[in-house]
Amino acid sequence: MTEYAFSPTEKAQIEGLCRRYPTRQSAVMPVLWIAQQKFGELSPPVIELVAQTLGLPPAHVEGVVSFYTMYIPKRKGQWLLELCTCFTCGECGGRELWSTIQDRFQLDEEGVSPDGFLWFREAECLGGCDAAPVLQIEGHRMVFHLTLEKLETVIESLRQGELPPFESIPPRHFE
Ligand code: FES
Repeated sequence: MTEYAFSPTEKAQIEGLCRRYPTRQSAVMPVLWIAQQKFGELSPPVIELVAQTLGLPPAHVEGVVSFYTMYIPKRKGQWLLELCTCFTCGECGGRELWSTIQDRFQLDEEGVSPDGFLWFREAECLGGCDAAPVLQIEGHRMVFHLTLEKLETVIESLRQGELPPFESIPPRHFE
């Protein structure tokens, strides 16, 4: 059974965050991020924990969680992979890639592979339009100029329990 509590290290980190804001309630977003990294999702008991930690009503915390797509109220697959199919990425192969991914990984209507290992979602612009199409893994690791071959390599890393190496946005080349 999961115990819903922050460790002493996490508590110290949270107190440090709270000191950066005029009120401790203002730290709700980074504290939710810590909670999501720890528990994998922001289920009702996790929301309750964050609310108690910051002295907020649970409904307030739930409102923040439901507003931002970076927060996961209920995890559907082990690894969340978000493919940008917005403006530039859509035009640069993102939309075709999305169709290919759905077939290749036999995704269900929620974007989850049959073994529950992969959970794909379409994303709005991820801020890497120069290097479209872009993939984001678990809300923080970015992969640029995505192709199906590159994606297969990324998934191979995830199967080893490793995030792919950090990539910075490739520099632009002007003629
Ligand atoms: S449109 Fe995909 S990163 Fe901007």
